[in-house]
Order: sequence, then C-alpha cells, then structure tokens
Amino acid sequence: MTASTNEFQGRTYVITGGASGLGLESARHLAARGANLVLADVDTALLATAAAELPAERTSTIPADVRKPADCEAMMQLAVARYGALDGAVCSAGIDAVTPALETPVEVWQHVLDVNLTGSFLSAQAAARALLAGGRRGSIVTFASGIAVRGRAGGPHYAASKAGIVGLSKSLALEFARHGIRVNAVAPGIVDTPFARKSMNDAQLAARAGQVPLGRIGEPDDIAPVVAFLLSDASGWMTGQTLHANGGMLMV
Ligand SMILES: NC(=O)c1ccc[n+]([C@@H]2O[C@H](COP(=O)([O-])OP(=O)(O)OC[C@H]3O[C@@H](n4cnc5c(N)ncnc54)[C@H](O)[C@@H]3O)[C@@H](O)[C@H]2O)c1
Repeated sequence: MTASTNEFQGRTYVITGGASGLGLESARHLAARGANLVLADVDTALLATAAAELPAERTSTIPADVRKPADCEAMMQLAVARYGALDGAVCSAGIDAVTPALETPVEVWQHVLDVNLTGSFLSAQAAARALLAGGRRGSIVTFASGIAVRGRAGGPHYAASKAGIVGLSKSLALEFARHGIRVNAVAPGIVDTPFARKSMNDAQLAARAGQVPLGRIGEPDDIAPVVAFLLSDASGWMTGQTLHANGGMLMV
C-alpha cells in the first residue's frame, strides 16, 4: 500500500540497506510521495534491481558499506550533489546471525555489532553532518527491533546491537535536538523479508504468526508508513522515541 500525496516532494533521503526488504519498501513508499532518494547498499546487483522500479529522475544508488566512514560520507554527499540538499536518512542496513552465546566466536559477535550498531552510528553521523552543513532541519530513522527489549536465545550479538541502537538513537536525539535534527527508531516485530527468511522457513513463520495477537507476521508495508511518519512533519515533536510495530506481539 502506498500513499499518493506529494508530501515528500523536494525532499531528499538516503536509505542504507535500501536495496532490499524494509529499506526498499520505505523507498517505494517515499518515492510514491514525491521524495528524491539515494539507495546505499553493499549488494550492487540488488541495488540495480531496486532502482529499476523507482522513478529514475528521483532515484540514485551508491554501493556502500555502512561499516566504512568514507562510504557513509559519500552517500550523503551524493544526495547533496544530485538533489541540492539532504533532509534525512533511514538507517536500515542490517544483518542477522543465529549462534548460541556459548558457541559465538568473537569474530561473529564483532561482525554483527560492526554492521548493525557501528554502521547505524556512522550513517547517522554522516547524515547529521550533511544536514548541519546544509543548514537544514531533518529526521533520521534507525532500525531497532523488538528483540532489543525481549532478547533472543541464539542472538546475543543481534539483540545487543539492536538495544545499542535504541541507546544510540536517544543519545543522538539529545545531541542534535538544538539543531532541529530528530532521531527516532522503529522497532519491528517479525516481518516477511529476505532477512527473516534466512533464519525461518514457511512452517516456522506460520508458527510465529499464530503467536501474534493480530494473527499474522508483518509485511514490509506495515513498516514503511511508520518510517515515513517519523520522517514527516507529522512527527515533528517526536525525537528519541522507539516506535514498536509488531502486531501486538510486544507491548512496551
Ligand atoms: N525483517 C524483520 O523481521 C526485521 C525485524 C526487526 C528489525 N529488522 C531490521 O530491519 C532492518 C532491515 O531488515 P530487512 O528485513 O529489510 O533485511 P534485508 O536483508 O531484506 O535488507 C537488509 C539490507 O542491508 C544490506 N546490508 C547488509 N550489510 C550491509 C552493509 N555492511 N552496508 C550496507 N548495506 C548492508 C543488505 O545487502 C540488504 O540489502 C535491519 O536493520 C533489521 O535488523 C528486521
């Protein structure tokens, strides 16, 4: 489901992890409402496929690894160079790993923290720098998870990274508020994306759906409007918040 207003016309957003799943669905939603977009992702093949379905004159892509500060700066600079200014960022790039704590090598722990937590920090930092340089107010949306609150057996790294993103987002919100830059997190429950399909098969997803009060797991377009809301002026008095969207699976 996409809205057809031009609420975001003339506004420019960078979406990390924009080639797939929730980042791509957010791109579709924002594009349908007039936004200029820069999709940044490590997966260049997926980036090309994603860009092909979005308005060519308002969509740019850049291969980028959110673990690298220079890549994060480059994606923001591309947005400024191509569309004149930046209005915000969606930090959706993320990975999962399922390893019991007792059998988790430090390399796996570090990799998940590097992509999810450090990558979100570097993306948000670069976005804030570009917003400040352009003298713009803006909105940055990070991706936490219900697992940040509930934890997950077999996911010490993932849960820690997502809980870290909640603290990160609050801290950035406090630091950037005086510049009119808002930072909020969206915390999805299980949503049917390639990410979820990597760790769960059809039967497991169906079993999880049965546990959700609203009776189903999420679809990407359950989350994209929440992202759009947090970017929009409608949430102009919200910062440092974590918005949970999970069919009632977790109530905080
Ligand atoms: N799908 C869910 O059930 C769910 C639930 C809660 C939170 N989340 C979070 O939502 C975000 C998006 O998840 P998704 O379901 O869309 O996953 P996805 O796998 O469909 O998309 C993630 C994208 O991030 C990209 N990416 C991975 N590492 C990167 C890196 N180092 N630099 C740049 N890009 C990189 C991938 O190539 C991919 O295109 C993630 O942060 C995830 O933790 C997802």
